[in-house]
Amino acid sequence: METRAGGPGAFAGFDLGRTPSPCFVVDEVAVRRNLAILKDVKDRSGAQVLLALKAFSMWSLAGVVGEYLDGTCASGLWEARLAREHYRGELTTYSPAYRREDLPEILKLSDAVIFNSPDQIARFADLIAAARADGEVFDIGLRLNPECSQGEVAKYDPCQAGSRLGFPVSQLRPEHLVGVDGLHIHALCEQDFEPLRRIWDAVEPRLAGLTAGLKWLNLGGGHHITRADYQREELIALLRQIAERHGLQVLIEPGEAIALDAGILVGEILDTFDNGMPVAVMDISATCHMPDVIEAPYRPALLGEVEGGVTVRIGGPSCLAGDVIGDYRFAARPEAGARIAFLDQAHYSMVKTNTFNGVPLPSIALWNSDTDALRIVRRFDYTDFRDRLS
Ligand SMILES: Cc1ncc(COP(=O)(O)O)c(C=O)c1O
Repeated sequence: METRAGGPGAFAGFDLGRTPSPCFVVDEVAVRRNLAILKDVKDRSGAQVLLALKAFSMWSLAGVVGEYLDGTCASGLWEARLAREHYRGELTTYSPAYRREDLPEILKLSDAVIFNSPDQIARFADLIAAARADGEVFDIGLRLNPECSQGEVAKYDPCQAGSRLGFPVSQLRPEHLVGVDGLHIHALCEQDFEPLRRIWDAVEPRLAGLTAGLKWLNLGGGHHITRADYQREELIALLRQIAERHGLQVLIEPGEAIALDAGILVGEILDTFDNGMPVAVMDISATCHMPDVIEAPYRPALLGEVEGGVTVRIGGPSCLAGDVIGDYRFAARPEAGARIAFLDQAHYSMVKTNTFNGVPLPSIALWNSDTDALRIVRRFDYTDFRDRLS
């Protein structure tokens, strides 16, 4: 995949020596810029906008998120707890499958609980009734698979053949919607407006006569709304049109769009040598700190990369031969001790870190590019590695 990073922005002027290494540095001003765009979409479309915590759960910014958005969406019990502990507003929880023991708390915490199939809703009818009898108030949703592939990469396409994500819309019958308050459709990944329109054009006729008893329609995430070239006016028009035509509250739950181009991962070169080409080992690991580099795969943009110069293969400190971040061009070969940074690392990288090989977790810093104030909000140490093992 190609990185969709829009450029360094204010990070072009950030002194990489100011943080511990490695360290995620998130610019609050850039996050607010994204949130303001999403609030404008919400205000002008009437749709509710929730932050998908799976993409960006830097809860030290929860108060900031709450100034702009309607709430959050969670992928299960732990994100739902995090949402209620730190964030405000609406909370929607969706998981492809729930564990019976988790569901009572999820029903208590969430304003809407979205199930992956009518069978699951039926199987948990006793827990749903018991929670309501206890006074809990929540909506029930059903995730649909629109069976309309728009993804470039199967791995990120919930409509791929044999997908486990959502109930195939071709199987939907009126009896599946008894007791259901809303529908959920998530089928995009880092996409523009047109794929969303194509999905809606494919799904809308199939929902004919089925939406009368519903309250809401959640159009999921994967909308790259805060990217400079995203077609926001068209999105606003479609969201309004759906709400008006079907009498539904429309929601979207972007994740990446909230933190797009809002953070970097700073690290240090630990050693360099030649092996047919210049090679550098650094304290940032692809497998531990930016696993999507290997999983997607993609090549993250390097802050200040030059044209020409010398090409250096950069990799991490783990034992994995494939722990390679990529080949990058430098004006001169970097020395051990040099600081470098990869762009657009606030979303997904931070939530996916791990300590394979005992590699330390990056610290987390909050920067304000307007005032230049820098706060290290979290440092990790040996105990974080030890205490997740036994
Ligand atoms: C159900 C659901 N909602 C929202 C999102 C957030 O997507 P993104 O971060 O691409 O906007 C995802 C991402 O996988 C998802 O699976």
